[in-house]
Amino acid sequence: MTVHFIGAGPGAADLLTLRGRDLIARCPVCLYAGSLVPEEILAHCPAGARIVNTAPLDLDAITALLVAAHGQGRDVARLHSGDLSVWSAMGEQLRRLRAAGIPYTVTPGVPSFAAAAAALGAELTLPGVAQSVVLTRTSGRASPMPEGESLVRFAATGATLAIHLSIHKLAQVTADLITAYGADCPAAVVYRASWPDERIVRATLGTIEAALGEGVERTALILVGPALAAEGFAESCLYAPDYDRRFRPAIASGRRTGD
Ligand SMILES: C[S@@+](CC[C@H](N)C(=O)[O-])C[C@H]1O[C@@H](n2cnc3c(N)ncnc32)[C@H](O)[C@@H]1O
Repeated sequence: MTVHFIGAGPGAADLLTLRGRDLIARCPVCLYAGSLVPEEILAHCPAGARIVNTAPLDLDAITALLVAAHGQGRDVARLHSGDLSVWSAMGEQLRRLRAAGIPYTVTPGVPSFAAAAAALGAELTLPGVAQSVVLTRTSGRASPMPEGESLVRFAATGATLAIHLSIHKLAQVTADLITAYGADCPAAVVYRASWPDERIVRATLGTIEAALGEGVERTALILVGPALAAEGFAESCLYAPDYDRRFRPAIASGRRTGD
């Protein structure tokens, strides 16, 4: 018996990996985080599967379900939104499973920041503009930020910021970031990326709050950084005609410069 943690993607039911789909299809038990996992994905469960929405359950109750499935020898598909490596609460569940000696696997999913970048048609790392993406958030009721992980510090690097779980604090976020990036810095909000009601607002740090207006309180990402609207960036070396690399050696043109 194995518990299969599966990243269910950002919202669109077809943004699920084939591996994730196939695992769901062969597990007789499915636990899903109902607040963000789309119900259409549950259509992959086999007939007669036990399907439980864990949104109203606490960690003890979820662990009890996993332990019970283990006792019955029934594999479990455990679904969380996006990818499991960020803000999935997988870490604490894995710790419980290790303590109980229950085997597990982890299958990644499409994270919401990638879906938001796709919605914007944006590469978040542009040559000479930004080469890092910071996946971060602001403090929440249950999750204070560790000292040192402040937006202002991250912004000082010039990286592209993908700020999760913070749309309700947009005014504070922009006020903090304007001190580092300036009011003209490009910013965007992507609400429910890849869902049918997806909404995109592009503006600057100085104008994004007014541009967004009222009504967006959850499930949105704030993206900030010069890379979001840069046009004058250098082209990468990857496809430059005279750049020698393993899969397209310049040897054909009589030169070889190494990797
Ligand atoms: C609990 S976290 C889950 C993150 C998830 N594990 C991931 O890989 O993106 C929830 C936050 O992720 C962001 N988020 C999740 N899905 C989203 C989507 N489809 N569009 C925009 N933001 C989303 C929002 O900031 C939301 O508050």
